[in-house]
Amino acid sequence: MASSDKVRACAVGMGIGRPNGMAISNDPRGEVTALCDLDEARMKEFAKELPGKVKFYTDYKKMCEDPNIDAVFVGTPNQYHVPVAREVVAAGKHVMVTKPLSDSEEAAAILVEEAEKAGVVNMMSLSTRFSSSVQHLGKLGGEGYFGDFYYARARSVRRNGIPAWNLGFIKNGGGAFRDMGVHALDAVWWTLGMPKPVSAVGVAGAKFGPVGRGYWNNQKPEKSLYTQYDSDDYAGGFIRFENGIGLQIESFWASHQPGEFQMELFGTEAGAIMCPLTLYRCDDYQEKDIRVDLPRQKQGFDLIAHEFINSILDGKECPAPLRHGLIVQQMMEALLRSAESGKEELVRS
Ligand SMILES: NC(=O)c1ccc[n+]([C@@H]2O[C@H](COP(=O)([O-])OP(=O)(O)OC[C@H]3O[C@@H](n4cnc5c(N)ncnc54)[C@H](O)[C@@H]3O)[C@@H](O)[C@H]2O)c1
Repeated sequence: MASSDKVRACAVGMGIGRPNGMAISNDPRGEVTALCDLDEARMKEFAKELPGKVKFYTDYKKMCEDPNIDAVFVGTPNQYHVPVAREVVAAGKHVMVTKPLSDSEEAAAILVEEAEKAGVVNMMSLSTRFSSSVQHLGKLGGEGYFGDFYYARARSVRRNGIPAWNLGFIKNGGGAFRDMGVHALDAVWWTLGMPKPVSAVGVAGAKFGPVGRGYWNNQKPEKSLYTQYDSDDYAGGFIRFENGIGLQIESFWASHQPGEFQMELFGTEAGAIMCPLTLYRCDDYQEKDIRVDLPRQKQGFDLIAHEFINSILDGKECPAPLRHGLIVQQMMEALLRSAESGKEELVRS
């Protein structure tokens, strides 16, 4: 429980920790009282934007000993999400982790078990799931607007978008699928009503990264960087669910294709695409295409922070527990395993 009427939070990792920290700070019942990063200059820079005084930590273990922190956002490179988050829950603090939950399903499972046992609020920060268009589609799905879902496609395609600002992205445990495919996979799985995954078949590889092409903004990287490339820069495949739904999922950090983020839903009563948000129906043998313009509302990181704080202070059920992140991780790892084995692989649970 938070020890006051406000949640006192620490943000770890001064990249994605900034928008997440800012969203917590902007919530009337949240405040950022500490920052943690190996790089002090990055903490100082962000601290200038925060309204109150903040403490700096370069060692996350020390930060976890601070009794004046109730909750921690973990935004380090993928490979450190689990070690940091385990320390946080062991200290009895609430935890929010950026995507993907981990760099491996085994590590993710250990964290989820410990977080649930500790009884702390544990939440994924999922900016795509909490975007207004995905929230709208999920709400319609829950109300039965689409009838029964039976098929879906989701993809995240970049033309030149390999991130190179920390090595974690391109090392083992990083990669396009865990970085961007995870957004498409989580958002479509959630919109479909989170069916139980059964198996996955897929292909994955690296065609651009290891030869120094396809990097963010088409910049030419140093050879010393791209020769360390050890992850996928594309992955694609098919996931089957227990209720018969089939999902085609794709993720490209680099490709000779126009950049795109898309989700397509096939239901017995209606279908939809996410970009631009459009619903398709056929009533009385009349085709209808319905463009949806959503009013401006709380979305993305603001909504995530709001839900996290509500769960901590009001005991409201967390809408994106780490367990969701674990199931998404299990789907991703099954697809990546299939790419290596050349066979359909069962999704472990
Ligand atoms: N939309 C989203 O939700 C979204 C967007 C971008 C990145 N991310 C995720 O955020 C994570 C970080 O990506 P980024 O782009 O912010 O990277 P980044 O390199 O900009 O930031 C990572 C920071 O973590 C710090 N760090 C590394 N190890 C640490 C440790 N042991 N203790 C404390 N700090 C440590 C680094 O010094 C660095 O400042 C990735 O897992 C990525 O998937 C999520």
